[in-house]
Amino acid sequence: MTALPSLLLIGGGRMGSALLAGWREQGLSQAFVIDPSPGAQSLAGPGVTVLKDASQLPAGFMPEAVVLAVKPQMADGALPAYGRFAATALFISIMAGKTVRGVAGLLGGAPAIVRAMPNTPAAVRQGITVAFAGAEVSSARRDLAARLLAAVGEVAWVEEEAMLDPVTAISGGGPAYVFLLTELLEQAGLDQGLPAGLARIMARQTVIGSAGLLAASSETPEALRVAVTSPGGTTAEALKLLRADDALPKIFKAAIQAATERSRELSA
Ligand SMILES: NC(=O)c1ccc[n+]([C@@H]2O[C@H](COP(=O)([O-])OP(=O)(O)OC[C@H]3O[C@@H](n4cnc5c(N)ncnc54)[C@H](OP(=O)(O)O)[C@@H]3O)[C@@H](O)[C@H]2O)c1
Repeated sequence: MTALPSLLLIGGGRMGSALLAGWREQGLSQAFVIDPSPGAQSLAGPGVTVLKDASQLPAGFMPEAVVLAVKPQMADGALPAYGRFAATALFISIMAGKTVRGVAGLLGGAPAIVRAMPNTPAAVRQGITVAFAGAEVSSARRDLAARLLAAVGEVAWVEEEAMLDPVTAISGGGPAYVFLLTELLEQAGLDQGLPAGLARIMARQTVIGSAGLLAASSETPEALRVAVTSPGGTTAEALKLLRADDALPKIFKAAIQAATERSRELSA
């Protein structure tokens, strides 16, 4: 695989450092990370220089891609310093709720911007990132964005930016729902009188193992569920309750709707 082109990463926190780790595996030529926190210095290594702010970048440095991974509330203060790359670089923003138009407004000019929504399993290269390419993005730059984002898992594209609101609700927030399920399974074990350590390991390994099975199998989640559910058996009894009056599907639909609306509000 050819080495990645020169990169500039703004924000080396959870998401930024996960991306950087993936790029290291793909082969970095030259990368600068801008992050003022003392902990970010640990990201330095072969080909990677960590600086506290944009003014420390070498004068001639022209990144091919700039990845914006600061918190959305930092964007107004942080982004204008990178406007000087707006005419020459591809920008990839993973900031939740920041539209292509809003980011372009902070950079000035007519920059090529890909807006992307990753999720936290990116930390173990098992993420799903859904991306939208702004009007100025060429197909070659879209390919570069796909390559950079694929460093932390699967990549999918949407052709309408508004779709990133339900994407944020489903895959962006999705890990939280799965972790909640894990917590609820553990609590249910405790409620049934199981020892705490046993309840914890059962809940964790059931979620981890089910995800592994889903990943390894060619079957649909529905088929895998049916395979566990003998007619008249124990699982069927639990599912009967979970799905009574459509209870779980209804609450799930309403929850995703609420999160989608919140994402719309935050992007407005
Ligand atoms: N975590 C998720 O599930 C998730 C999912 C999708 C998208 N995102 C998006 O990813 C972005 C980063 O999230 P995160 O969870 O990685 O946040 P994070 O861990 O807080 O990382 C942000 C980093 O940026 C640094 N920073 C602050 N001001 C800066 C500046 N002016 N220039 C450069 N770096 C600066 C922060 O340093 P200090 O800590 O010292 O402030 C921190 O190290 C956010 O916009 C978020 O919306 C996150």
